[in-house]
Amino acid sequence: MNFSRRHLLGLEGFNREEILFLLDTAASFKEISEREIKKVPTLRGKTVVAAFFEPSTRTRISFEIAAKRMSADFVSLSGSTSSATKGETLLDTARNLAAMQPDILVLRHPSAGAPHLLAQCLECSVVNAGDGCHEHPTQALLDLLTIREQKGRIEGLVVAIVGDILHSRVARSNLYALRTLGAEVRLVGPRTLLPPECAALAFTTTDLREGVAGADVVMLLRLQRERQVGNFIPSVDEYARYYCLTEAHLRLAKPDVIVMHPGPLNRGIEISSEVADGPYSVILDQVANGVAVRMAVLYLLGTGARRADAETERPQLAAIGRARRRASR
Ligand code: CP
Repeated sequence: MNFSRRHLLGLEGFNREEILFLLDTAASFKEISEREIKKVPTLRGKTVVAAFFEPSTRTRISFEIAAKRMSADFVSLSGSTSSATKGETLLDTARNLAAMQPDILVLRHPSAGAPHLLAQCLECSVVNAGDGCHEHPTQALLDLLTIREQKGRIEGLVVAIVGDILHSRVARSNLYALRTLGAEVRLVGPRTLLPPECAALAFTTTDLREGVAGADVVMLLRLQRERQVGNFIPSVDEYARYYCLTEAHLRLAKPDVIVMHPGPLNRGIEISSEVADGPYSVILDQVANGVAVRMAVLYLLGTGARRADAETERPQLAAIGRARRRASR
């Protein structure tokens, strides 16, 4: 496989082989996190800068852990403590960061398209860690990896994505990738939170019971109130009455249904605690897979493996093999 991309900006337009290659690469890295010494030298000498202009727990920390497990130098910048608060534009901030010669810039930003703008202007690789309501590609990849581990396949599965679809970058990235891999996607939520253009890509319903019936996977989303301009629901209490997933809803799904959530959870609003902490939940498996997916992304963008043909890639894979053997002695 020749992974020819210089940036990871979104999964729209990715083909089946590219997505499966990313998942396979991530799966091969999982074992590193299970070792006593969780480190390989693959990205030694590489610098990863993470610039987060929105809050994050899982994404920022897992990029940091991923970079450090690959021996990259990792530095992070938070929008609230950066010179953006003094009026510096995103492009000026990025150009200043780029002047320090990072290899990869990981960006989370409230504006859709911000990583795409930087990718056009900077020499380094850019990874989208969530841009407004647009895409969150590494989240969708870790979701896909989790589904594939749990179900053994993605093709033919019925995946219900429930909640605030309109403001969800997670929903968009998953919708693109799940369709590419042959899953049947259902979008479930109040009419005001279902974007009309998605009706062309997936079955949509306002009825949680109809959406969940016969599903293999139920993926829940929180109300993204930080991105909502205006009133989309009468009240949070009313939303919870109609859309909070309980065990009773799950009895309508396939007996081996799995429940997913990208986090953070709003318990009692989109997900009941009995479901979040219950036997169908794979939410913490998703978090664990986030590290492996981000290791894979940093590896493919940071080592030049993305441009490698079989001849040039083999020595790199051999180096990883040698490192693994050294570490396990
Ligand atoms: N899933 C996700 O993006 O979580 P964080 O906002 O905590 O990074």
